[in-house]
Amino acid sequence: MSEDSATVHPARRIGGTLSVPGDKSISHRLALLCAAAPGASVIHGFLTSEDCLHTLAAVASLGARVRREGDRIEIAGTGGQLCAPPDVLDLGNSGTGLRLLSGLLAGQNFTSGLTGDASLRSRPMRRIKEPLEMMGARVELLGENGCAPLRITGGGLRGIDYTLPVASAQVKSCVLLAGLFAEGETVVREPRPTRDHTERLLRAVGAEIKVDGPDIRLRGARGARNLRSAGERTVPGDFSSAAFWLTAAACREGARVTVRGVGLNPRRTALLDVLKRMGALVETQAGEPEEGTDPAWEPAGAVTVEGRPLKATEIGGDEIPNLIDELPLVAVAAALAEGRTTIRDAAELRVKESDRIAAMAAILTAFGVPVREAPDGMIVEGVPRPRGGAAVDSRGDHRMAMAAAILGLMADGPSRINGTACIATSYPSFWEDMNRLSAK
Ligand code: S3P
Repeated sequence: MSEDSATVHPARRIGGTLSVPGDKSISHRLALLCAAAPGASVIHGFLTSEDCLHTLAAVASLGARVRREGDRIEIAGTGGQLCAPPDVLDLGNSGTGLRLLSGLLAGQNFTSGLTGDASLRSRPMRRIKEPLEMMGARVELLGENGCAPLRITGGGLRGIDYTLPVASAQVKSCVLLAGLFAEGETVVREPRPTRDHTERLLRAVGAEIKVDGPDIRLRGARGARNLRSAGERTVPGDFSSAAFWLTAAACREGARVTVRGVGLNPRRTALLDVLKRMGALVETQAGEPEEGTDPAWEPAGAVTVEGRPLKATEIGGDEIPNLIDELPLVAVAAALAEGRTTIRDAAELRVKESDRIAAMAAILTAFGVPVREAPDGMIVEGVPRPRGGAAVDSRGDHRMAMAAAILGLMADGPSRINGTACIATSYPSFWEDMNRLSAK
């Protein structure tokens, strides 16, 4: 087995209890906001995957002092006074890192450059250029077709009233982070509710933020002088990582998996509603918040899924942003369900780390699962058992590689996945956890 490919054997048994590494979205945001806020903050359970380490390295180049011991991170913030980085900032594979950092940089009185790997340099960036320029920054897109590298000349921002053209937490967060440094009020209006980690964390650092249905209002200040330190924070386990094992359990009758200490923010857990609808048994148990902790901080607890015969379902509308990263797993469950599952309203999947509609359709086809692509989703016909012997390609996309591995556990023979090194961007201990939960 080379480091960039893996053979997955069918699982004889799936079951057990585990905890998963820290949430990626929250880790990125904590790194950025602790760097912008004044004073020292301590983060426990930070996700030490490639994506988040790129963000941490970026804030260190911008003047925050960062100390790391395993997944405990200490950040001495800049109090809003970031300094010009000596080099172009490289965010690797991470759209979250690049888009959110762009918001912070738009508020700074200097010019900075941002780039990433080939996948990140093919993803749309006009969606952040437009609002940041409305606020007064200059954002040059130096790649082809409105893509990175970016050059941002910031400072002198004023608040805007902005309706997001796509339901994207990354774009929302980019505008809010710029809004911290803007004079006056910034209003962001969401077409559909997306993950709200930025809003929660802004509250944690003392920002004046109000959420009124789909509208978020933030009062900024030049130099973001109105913030306080985030203090000591614990990052819950990443629901999107737990989702691999919860889906594996759902797909195998009688299997039972429990994930402890996992984030249960309702804007992230729509997969549980879908698995329930398809027939799996799902139990969640909210964790007791520790005494003295901030009640508005991220909810966490334990989730158990038990497999039952699955039936097809329909997914679309407001549910989509709340399971956007789990849609490849919905397709895996659909492949094992009786009947035809339809996913729609998910055109955003085409501009993730890969075109996830095309990539997932190719993976399902290789496993002998009938699938039809739609511009904004796919239609999957369930089969009793996916065909082993498949050789599939992740297209360099971590979630495709991991979703294919879960399908491989369910197949009737070994399968090969090419392009698995990318798993390190979000879930470095994925294979260890797979070995713990599945017996070959
Ligand atoms: C993320 C938001 C989502 C998601 C991504 C992480 C975030 O992207 O797909 O993996 O941390 O804000 P969009 O908000 O652009 O859909």
